[in-house]
Amino acid sequence: MNSYTQSLGQVVTVLGSQWGDEGKGKLIDVISEDYEIIARAAGGANAGHTIYIKDPQNPSKQLKFIFHLIPSGIFNENCSCVIGNGVVLELPTLMEEIDLLKEHGVKTDGRVFISDRTHLLFKYHKIIDGIQEEMKGDEKVGTTKRGIGPCYTDKVRRNGIRVHELLDFDTFEKKYRANLEMFKRMYSHFGHDADAELAELKEIAERIKPMIIESSYFLNKALEDGKKILIEGANGAMLDIDHGTYPFVTSSNSTVAGVISGTGIAATKITNVIGIMKAYTTRVGEGPFPSELFDGLGKQIQETGGEYGSTTGRPRRCGWFDAFVGKYSTQLNGFTEINLTKLDVLSGIPSLKIATGYKHDGKQLDSFPSSLEILGKVEVDYVEMPGWDEDISTVRNYNDLPEAARNYVEKIEELLGCKIASIGVGVAREDMIFR
Ligand code: GDP
Ligand code: IMO
Ligand code: MG
Repeated sequence: MNSYTQSLGQVVTVLGSQWGDEGKGKLIDVISEDYEIIARAAGGANAGHTIYIKDPQNPSKQLKFIFHLIPSGIFNENCSCVIGNGVVLELPTLMEEIDLLKEHGVKTDGRVFISDRTHLLFKYHKIIDGIQEEMKGDEKVGTTKRGIGPCYTDKVRRNGIRVHELLDFDTFEKKYRANLEMFKRMYSHFGHDADAELAELKEIAERIKPMIIESSYFLNKALEDGKKILIEGANGAMLDIDHGTYPFVTSSNSTVAGVISGTGIAATKITNVIGIMKAYTTRVGEGPFPSELFDGLGKQIQETGGEYGSTTGRPRRCGWFDAFVGKYSTQLNGFTEINLTKLDVLSGIPSLKIATGYKHDGKQLDSFPSSLEILGKVEVDYVEMPGWDEDISTVRNYNDLPEAARNYVEKIEELLGCKIASIGVGVAREDMIFR
């Protein structure tokens, strides 16, 4: 057992605390061996979680996997993976991921479970996502076009279709066709081959029958039996539908609230909430980003950090670490500790800045503003700190980091008032410092 996970309790959740892509997948993969169950709680295939594993045929080579729906603990063959009720599930994508894992010899039968209450995401949701973005023109959100907004809209509108409904395919088909007719009236006629999609779903329904469970019962029973559960968040706090930079957000609660509603595990059962924070900030898609860098340095971080979207391949916008954002998400989620990722990417930058707060009309803001107009005008306060030149990717003990790197980590810790328990220094599983 990893000595770090030994210090954690029975139900641990890992959440993004910026605008997504902080490195959630990697930490989940690294610590998953100490959990019996890994569960996804919210979001859909808008998420792209990257894992590197040693190629079993050639251990000097790393194999890269990007998962959109399968929980990132899948490579730990002793655990079960659960897709929680809060997820919006595009079944063909899940099947592709399962097939890919099978090709690599990873056992998935009897290990992957889907909540019967999970909402199904169909091809027409993706088409509508595209239509809505086009209708918004310059105001577009810059979504991943994975149909997330339209599927959650169906859920809230109460005409969504859930996984258990696949078990009675004729009734399912009627509901599917009725919804599609409604959307064709709402968005004028759009091209979509319903017969083809239904035929594909009919096949998939047979395949997934053994995977369907009452997930809240399953997870709570596992807790009663003393099992340990790791819950994988998707997206990031600043993309949360309530607390993020609305309307430039996703359509679910990507903060800890979504973990509770999206799994059916009670709030009082959660023992640890780990916030994942990149040592700088990135954002993909539109919307405000106060500490964004528009110069060559932003470009340099983008290249060194490989900052291109895992789901869409779009370049990620890059900027300084924003402790005002970090403090806000620490408060929203009640982080018990932080995993600071990609510290290695900052090596070689002579001087580093950290955003500490925002001013509006010359006045210091106490809280993160709801108004995008204000957010667009804020003046950002920074502290500036010396950087370091050394390559830190092989460092495994905190005290072996250059002093400037330790000062940077400790400054962030001080500004957030939360312990940085682990630090990422590269993409591979071993590239971690546990403090
Ligand atoms: P997620 O969506 O939060 O799981 O993050 P993504 O997988 O979308 O993006 C994070 C990227 O950073 C991936 O390419 C990871 O392989 C990479 N990564 C994670 N941790 C580190 C780290 O500590 N150092 C470096 N250099 N890359 C990292
Ligand atoms: P992971 O789990 C980064 C962003 C999109 C867009 C906005 C709304 O990999 O961290 P949506 O398709 O959800 O309607 O898009 O949210 N977004 C993400 N950005 N990482 C993600 O997930 C994201 N999920 C959504 O780019 O700006
Ligand atoms: Mg990602």
